[in-house]
Amino acid sequence: MYALTPRLLTILGLMDADGFISGEQIAGTMGMSRAGVHGLIRQAATYGVNVQSVRGRGYRLARPLELLDEARLAGELAPLGLHVLCLPEVDSTNARLLALAAGGAPHGTLLAAEWQTCGRGRRGRRWLGVLGASLAFSLLWRFERPVAQLAGLSLAVGVALVRTMRALGAEGIGLKWPNDVLLGEDKLAGILIELTGDMLAPSAVIGVGLNIRAGEQLTGEVGMPVADLETACGRRLDRNAVLAAVAQELAAVLAFFDQQGFAPLREEWLAWHAWQDRPVAVLGADGRLLTGRAAGVDAQGALLLDTGSGLEPVLSGDVSLRRAG
Ligand code: BTN
Repeated sequence: MYALTPRLLTILGLMDADGFISGEQIAGTMGMSRAGVHGLIRQAATYGVNVQSVRGRGYRLARPLELLDEARLAGELAPLGLHVLCLPEVDSTNARLLALAAGGAPHGTLLAAEWQTCGRGRRGRRWLGVLGASLAFSLLWRFERPVAQLAGLSLAVGVALVRTMRALGAEGIGLKWPNDVLLGEDKLAGILIELTGDMLAPSAVIGVGLNIRAGEQLTGEVGMPVADLETACGRRLDRNAVLAAVAQELAAVLAFFDQQGFAPLREEWLAWHAWQDRPVAVLGADGRLLTGRAAGVDAQGALLLDTGSGLEPVLSGDVSLRRAG
């Protein structure tokens, strides 16, 4: 995998989807040869960015690309006590933020990256994105409640995401236990929480991956149906504004959760539960397969599975819908 050089980002930032920019103009601005510019632009495809190249006219983006604006995000989020850091490329924002946390990074550090070379999904899966069209960020939250009382945290984060998306105008979204955001049955966003530090006052790195605008690479490689927020909202979205809105709601929900836990958020989570009362199969962390009816969640955030012989609380696992027949 290539390193996403800041130069490629700068070049992509010079282009837009409305008109062409010549290779000569880019080369002049960058102080590079035209061949060098061309070589870098060819790397763009690796990141899911489609650059149209037309002889005699130059380059144009097939789709608009909005890069992260650290100064703007910091300006909007600093008053909430968040410390924003945007990087062009990291292995994983979760991995990098865990390392920063170990080095003493402050509560409220928010690390966003344009590109992850090893984006982590739940249960050891990979997480993919499209450059400039998805969000990958992690937020460091230092809790005042013990690890044992963080069980519902990932569900609380799901509530924050749904609230934000609804406020942006999304229709047809729902939550899949424990914390996927769906549009219909396709995945719109995923959450990966990794805990570190003291068992009595742990720190959480809360990673969020969110598809804003779909690209060929994302749909092609992820191997599962994915959805994007612009489709859910039926309009173009400002990527930096989406990140700021999610971070703002997340900070509010996390502060609330730290004080009150998941129980007061349970009803709201249930209102968005995409698979309530539907037949599901749950593959437990121990490899056990359970089937039953999804009967909601308890006050700790465990999935309640109606197996026919009572309600079984499931603390962790992968849920899938069971089709009739
Ligand atoms: C899932 O499997 O649904 C969870 C996906 C979480 C992806 C995000 S992207 C930002 C953060 N950094 C990572 O490496 N993973 C999370």
